[in-house]
Parts: sequence; C-alpha cells; structure tokens
Amino acid sequence: MYRARGRDRHDTRRNPLSVQFNHTIVGCHDNRVSAEFWSDILGLELGKEWGPFIPLPTGNGVTFDFANVPPHITEIQPQHYAFLISEAEFDAAYAKIQRYKLEHWADPRQQGVNEINHNDGGRGVYFLDPSGHFMELITVPYGGWPT
Ligand SMILES: [Fe+2]
Repeated sequence: MYRARGRDRHDTRRNPLSVQFNHTIVGCHDNRVSAEFWSDILGLELGKEWGPFIPLPTGNGVTFDFANVPPHITEIQPQHYAFLISEAEFDAAYAKIQRYKLEHWADPRQQGVNEINHNDGGRGVYFLDPSGHFMELITVPYGGWPT
C-alpha cells in the first residue's frame, strides 16, 4: 500500500476534514441574469467575469461559476442548491421573493404554495432560479444545529 512520506495537510487519510468543496459551474440560459438573481436574493457580491464564467463567492469559500449552456441545449437539467443563511438574511431574501411575486413553496414537493416551513425550529423556503434550478434557503441545518 502506498504511504505518503512526511506531513501533508492535503493527505485525506490523515485529515479527512481537509477536503473542502471549492467551486462548481451553474448551467444557465443567460448567466448574467442568473448570477444577478442569485446575488440579489442571497445578498452576495458577484466577482469579476472571467472567460465564460460569472463567479459568486459564498461565505464558506464555495464559488458558484455561472456559465451559459451551449446553444443546442434547450433544456437545463435542474439541480438543487440549498443555502444556510441567517434569520436577518432570510428576512431580506424573503422580502424580495414576495416583492418579485416569485412562486415559492414550503416543501420540495411544491405542496405548500407561497408558504415557508419552520423545520428544525428555523425557517425554510423553496423557489426556482431563472434557469429552473431548485433553490432552497434555510436558517437552521437539517436536523437542527449540532449540540
Ligand atoms: Fe434540500
């Protein structure tokens, strides 16, 4: 069996928590529209456009890179993106969701129309972004805060 010599903080066998999700690409029909939508709802600053990407860095170091899908792709496979935000951030985001009259749901099955949930003692809401990605905002992690 291979064994790395010396100390290496990126050696995941020694330190499994050294693995961090760093960035991903969000497929869009119009990456400017999508990036500005996320930036507005989440209250986050967009980074500088580079190549085909418009980056949106988040608080835990993960960057979402918005990119247009090739023109021959007419249907984007919806992904699910969930954000843990503060109660004050939820107030601001939800005020915008209501002001823009965005259809939203309390649950992923879209049964509680234009409602929010209070799961785990917090607040949560689901809505779609301009490319049809399935967004979720929560103020408490699933299962509650670790004790
Ligand atoms: Fe979720």
